[in-house]
Order: sequence, then structure tokens, then C-alpha cells
Amino acid sequence: MKFGYFDDKNKEYVIQTPKTPYPWINYLGSEDFFGLISNTAGGYCFYKDARLRRVTRYRYNNIPLDNGGRYYYIKDEKDFYSPTWMPVKSELDHYECRHGIGYSKIKAIKNDLETEILYFIPLGDNAEIHKVTLKNVGNNDKEFTIFSFIEFCLWNAYDDMTNYQRTYSIGAVEVEGSTIFHKTDYRERRNHYSFYSVNHPINGFDTDRDAFLGQYNGLNEPETVIKGMSNNSMASGWNPIGSHSIKVKLAPNEEKTLIFTIGYIENNQEEKWKAEDVINKEQAYELLEKYNNDTAVEEAFEKLGNHWNNLLNKFVVESHDENLNRMVNIWNPYQCMVTFNMSRSASYFETGIGRGMGFRDSNQDLLGFVHQIPEKARERILDIASTQLEDGSAYHQYQPLTKKGNHEIGGGFNDDPLWLILSTTAYIKETGDFLILQEEIPYNCDINNTGTLLEHLEKSFGFTLNNLGPHGLPLIGRADWNDCLNLNCFSENPDESFQTCDNKTGKTAESVFIAGMFVYMGKELAELYKRLGSDNKSQKVLKEVEKMTHAIETYGYDEEWFLRAYDYYGNKIGSKENEEGKLFIEPQGFCVMAGIGVDNGKALKALDSVDRHLNTEYGAVLLWPAYTKYQTHLGEISSYPPGYKENAGIFCHNNPWIMIAETVLGRGEKAFEYYSKIAPSYLEDISEKRRLEPYVYAQMIAGRDAVREGEAKNSWLTGTAAWNYEAITKWILGIRPDYDGIMIDPCIPKDWDNILIKRVFRKSTYEISIKNPEGVCKGVKKILVDGKEQEGNYISAFNDSSIHRIEVIMG
Ligand code: BGC
Ligand code: NOJ
Repeated sequence: MKFGYFDDKNKEYVIQTPKTPYPWINYLGSEDFFGLISNTAGGYCFYKDARLRRVTRYRYNNIPLDNGGRYYYIKDEKDFYSPTWMPVKSELDHYECRHGIGYSKIKAIKNDLETEILYFIPLGDNAEIHKVTLKNVGNNDKEFTIFSFIEFCLWNAYDDMTNYQRTYSIGAVEVEGSTIFHKTDYRERRNHYSFYSVNHPINGFDTDRDAFLGQYNGLNEPETVIKGMSNNSMASGWNPIGSHSIKVKLAPNEEKTLIFTIGYIENNQEEKWKAEDVINKEQAYELLEKYNNDTAVEEAFEKLGNHWNNLLNKFVVESHDENLNRMVNIWNPYQCMVTFNMSRSASYFETGIGRGMGFRDSNQDLLGFVHQIPEKARERILDIASTQLEDGSAYHQYQPLTKKGNHEIGGGFNDDPLWLILSTTAYIKETGDFLILQEEIPYNCDINNTGTLLEHLEKSFGFTLNNLGPHGLPLIGRADWNDCLNLNCFSENPDESFQTCDNKTGKTAESVFIAGMFVYMGKELAELYKRLGSDNKSQKVLKEVEKMTHAIETYGYDEEWFLRAYDYYGNKIGSKENEEGKLFIEPQGFCVMAGIGVDNGKALKALDSVDRHLNTEYGAVLLWPAYTKYQTHLGEISSYPPGYKENAGIFCHNNPWIMIAETVLGRGEKAFEYYSKIAPSYLEDISEKRRLEPYVYAQMIAGRDAVREGEAKNSWLTGTAAWNYEAITKWILGIRPDYDGIMIDPCIPKDWDNILIKRVFRKSTYEISIKNPEGVCKGVKKILVDGKEQEGNYISAFNDSSIHRIEVIMG
């Protein structure tokens, strides 16, 4: 069952009912100011950091669900309602929400009034714009009052929802004309304020929540709306809100637009005040002036559209498969941008107060984003590397606002450092910018202690080497990619976090997954040294890679598949010998991707085992058989019920590793089978079962052992986005940027033919046509570059601004 449809021409998903199985959301903004918005206008906005600079308030897991957002109310002669359905929830005559790229439009008709609200964040400004269009579609004059509503967050979202003994006493606002200024804390240590304004004279306002709602009322029944008149209340402490009211009269067919703006302003310390206790509003005036008319707003909206078209134009596929086309051309790269911006901080499953930017997460997110805005990717690499410590280890997370490592969680996740090699080499392959390696970057954000980026990469590699266990395999530390396999934390205390408690020495538990990563990243590093002319260093790295490969094949393989780890006692995990958790997906993917066992059949057996034991109707589960009991020596993984999350859920993040591994073996059918099982567009028809947005990946789909198999959770912010983009564009479609050019190496189902791909690479446009006359999965027989046949399938970088035609004949 579907709840809407894809409108590919407009790059939108059109939702036709407000009652989706879960709020289906979208993101606004892609620079410094961001918003999350659901299909019924729920959500919030923030500046840079969802925890430290939250602008509007939102209560997670509220009752009813998704109650709170940027709401408008219409009060007419008969009735009052919300044109976004929530929060009043009265039946609408018509409803439609279009989630587009960086904007959402919610349209409704009720009582002969058509409303359309366009929500977006213009490029270059810290403001959320709501363009509200009101049209009388009836035959009689219509008079009504429109009320607006947002609730201000007192900046620090964590304090805001925990520290009421303080927050109830500090709320402060100013009102001037049609603008409500939120200035809590501005008097003392803050130099920022926010505002909510409308480009029209108002009939009244409210800034005190109780005054607006009436005591004990919900958002669905504000006293003010019911009586049809604002109170002009001034908040003093308690809960500051922003609400305007405007009386409107429309003749039949007449239309009126109102532009509401939520803005965020920072003032210099010396210019904070205009008069005693009156904030300096100059910048707010400027911003409001800029967007005070329809034309300006339409232009800004168009500019945003062009910006996105330009970004999405860098990789475009035209094939027989519309699901594939829309995932690759629209939704997957869009989700990659969002994960790049948010890491795992703010979604409808991540509260924005828990996690900042993850070290491993952000490095992986970069893979799916680097071709969009390489300069931003560059900056990100430097930010991440700055939080690395001198011994090569890394903080697991950092706050986007301060860019400093997060002490609460600390480090000790032994896979973290290696991911930096992957992101950096991906960036250089995309751009050819080897100079980034010479950038001097702090260790632990200390500008007095620096090393070049290349030195940082060496330290990443060295960190693994300096932390090997009894079998010569890497020590796992607190955890590797799988946060929930906690082999050094034997926890019996429900009040401690599995990720931060480590009560074992950490000198025995080893990770075959990190070993596979080490081989993969080691080969990358060796190649990089070669390009830099350091053959010696390259050879040295390759020696270590060889040693590790040997250790994996000797101690990390079990007849039919790669083991997962050795536990604290030195026992195998992910082995035939185990009763549960015999086979894990992660090392099968990464070891084969790294080329381990490809020549001797081990890789083939491993992938066949994945197919036999992990592959299910909805994708490959993380492990088999699921753990049925909690086991202290395994940690959080065994705390999840079978079939959920890391305990045999379909963890979508590592399915693409299997896809890529399958392409390494040349099995295009299998690779694509895994791809289409989890790519959301293919699952649109089972939206009632999957429950989450059919246009984006979710972190997890409940696996076959789960009570609710096939149900997705944790949409949007997941490494799944980047890795699936990587798998489909670079390995299945086979267009791989490299240091000196592009490698063309598709690995597709046999019956695919006639695929067109446009790839913008270092300014040149490659128009690639792939023909498959012999129906093979892999293999390039002939390539014509601008009409001339060339040897091999490596097309050198043209570094010009022209278009080049590449004809590829597989065979
Ligand atoms: C989740 C993981 C997550 C970890 C760290 C666990 O509960 O299952 O997916 O990475 O917490 O926050
Ligand atoms: C989500 C985390 O953000 C990521 O870092 C981790 O690798 C996966 N969960 C698997 O545990």
C-alpha cells in the first residue's frame, strides 16, 4: 500500500494523506541553518548545532506523535482548523504534502479556502521562510483570521527539556511591529537572538504560551484561536512563543500571500544593544527587508532549486529502471547531503542532543557527498582530522559548533582512525587535490601540536599496528564499526552505557572486521604513497597489509566464511563453533572488498554463505542465528531482541558492502539483488509494512527473527545512504573516480543494456553510454573516447570544461 507517489520531474515525493504510518519528514537548509519538517509541519529548526543552538522547540515522542512545529490556524465563521492537519486534526477537503529537495509544500482546502505553505531556507541566510498563499476557491466572500504559532527553544535543547527550575525564569522577548524577538539569555552570555515575523501588519500577537493556549489546553485547541483574537501577551519567564494574528478578507478567486520568517542573528559583543535592555535589531531588519515580498522569496526559492539541480546533475543515470533512476539521481544523493550535514545528530529518531558528528560516521558520509561540493568535503576532512590524537586514536564524536572532541564519549573505538584514510583518498580521487595532504592540522585541536594530513593518515594506519592482539589481528577496543559488539565491557549494570564502560584490559579481544578494513585502507595508503613518489613507504605498508592478510586467512577464517572476532577469553565469535552468532555480515563484506581470499576461493565461499544464511526477502540480516540471551561478554548486541538492530536486524549500512563484494567477484545479478531489496523506492508498495519514508533509506529493517519483520526504523541519518550510493554508482554502474581519471567497470545483471550516465568529473562532463550486446555481468570489451578507440577501461582526466562522449561495449 502506498500513501503517495514519486513526482520525478519535480524531484518530489507527494504525500496524499496526513496519516502516514509515521511522520514522513524532510530537511530544510544545507549550510548553517537547518530545519526538520514532517508532512504535517511538525519539527524544528536550529543554527549549526541541534543541541546548543536550537531555535524552535520540539518534544520528541510526544502524545500525540509529532505534536509541535510551525503551525498555522485558520479561524473562520464556522470553524477553526490547521491547514497542515496537525495539530487540530480536523478533516480537510483536500490535503497534499510535497517533500522536495530542500523544501516542503503543504496544501489544503477546507471551507472553500485553499492554503499552500511553502517552507524553505534560502541560500546564504539563517532563516526559515514560510510563504503562505491563501485563496478563496468558493463563490462567496470569505473572512477569516490566520494565527501563526511556534514555540521558542531556550537555545540549549538539553537544558530546555531538563532544567525547568532555571528555564521557567529566564524566557524573554521583545515585540516590535509584526516581529517577535526571542532574547532569552541575551542579557548575559549570549550574543544571539531569534525572531519570528510576517510581512504584513498584524491584528495581534502572543508571546506567552499559557496566554495563547489557555491553561491545560493542547495545541489542538488554543483558546486564542477559538475566541478569534490575540491577547498581545508578553512572555516573562515560563514558555515564550511566537504567534501572530491577521484578519483576512478574500473575494471569490482572490489570493493573498503572507511571508513568515523565522530568523537567527548573531551580534558583535560591542554592538549587542540599541538602548538599555533593547537589543540591536539591525541585522534582523536587513534580513526581513530582503524577504519582504513575493518576488524576492520566489527568486530565493528558484536560486535554491538551481543550486540543487546543479548538485544533482553531477551524476545522472538513464536506464530502463525508474526506481534505479530516481534513487541514483534524486533521493540517494539528497540523503547523502543530509547525512553529511547532520551526521547522526537530528532526525525523528535522533534527538539532536545525543550525538554530535561521529568520527567514523562523518568519514563514511563523505563518500556519498564528495562529488557534490568537494570544498565542503575538504573542510570536513580537516575538521575531523583535527580531533585525532597524536597516537593516531580518535574521539568518537565531536560537536559541530565547537568542533572539539566530545569528552563524554571519549575514544577507544579502534576502527575510527582508519576511516580517515578512506575519506581522504576518496576526496583526492574526486578532485586531484593532493595538496590537502600537506595541510598542517592539530592533534586533539591543539594548534601548538600539529602534523600534516598525510602524517595524520600514517598515524591512523600506525594506530592499528600498535594495537594488535594475540593472533596478530587488531584489538577491538570499546567496539569497532558494530557499536554493539562490546567485548571489553562486561556490564551487569543497567545504568551504564555499553559503549563507554570498559572493565576488561582490552588486550585480548580482536576484530577481524578491523583487520579487513586495515587491508582495504592499507592498499589505499600504499597506492597514495606511490602517487606521491614514496615507493619505499608504499612497500612498507604493503608488507603490513600482506602480514595482516595472512593473519586473517590463518586465524580469521572458518572453512566457509570470515570470523567476526576473538572475545576477551580468546574464543571465536562468528564461527561454526558458536551456537548463536555463527556468521556475521561485516567481515564478509569488508574482507572481500579488500580482495582477501579472492584468488583462493575463500571470498567466493564467504559470499555464498552470506547468500545461504543471511539473505532474506527484505535484505541481508547482520548475523545468524540471532542471539536469544543476554551475554555479558558480547555486550549490547545480545541485549536487543532477535531480529532488531545489530542483533540480526537488516542493518542497511552493511548490505552495500556485500553488493560491492559481489561486484569484486563479478556477480552483477547478486549485487543488484541486494541493492533492490533495500533501496526504498522499490519498497514503496509495502509502505504500510515498512512504515517509514519510501524516499530515503532507514538504518534498520527488522529481520526475519523479529516480530515485525520488514518494518523499518531510524530513517535518514545512516551510513546506509553513502554506502549505497558508493555501491550503485561506483561498483554496480562502475563509474569510479581515481587519481588520474575515471575507471569504467560496470558489474550489472546480464539483461541490462543501454545505460546512459552523465558524470561531471573535475569540470569535464563524461557522457557515458554502456552497451551490453553479449549480456555479460562484467567486462569491458571496447571503449571509444570521443569516437576513438582506446586501450583499457581507464579514462584519463581531461581537466577541461568540455563534454566528452564515452562509448562502452561490455563483453
Ligand atoms: C545503537 C547503535 C549506535 C550506538 C551508539 C546503539 O544503541 O544500536 O546503532 O551506534 O547505540 O549510540
Ligand atoms: C550507528 C552508528 O552511528 C555507527 O557509527 C555504527 O557503525 C552503526 N550504528 C553500527 O553499530
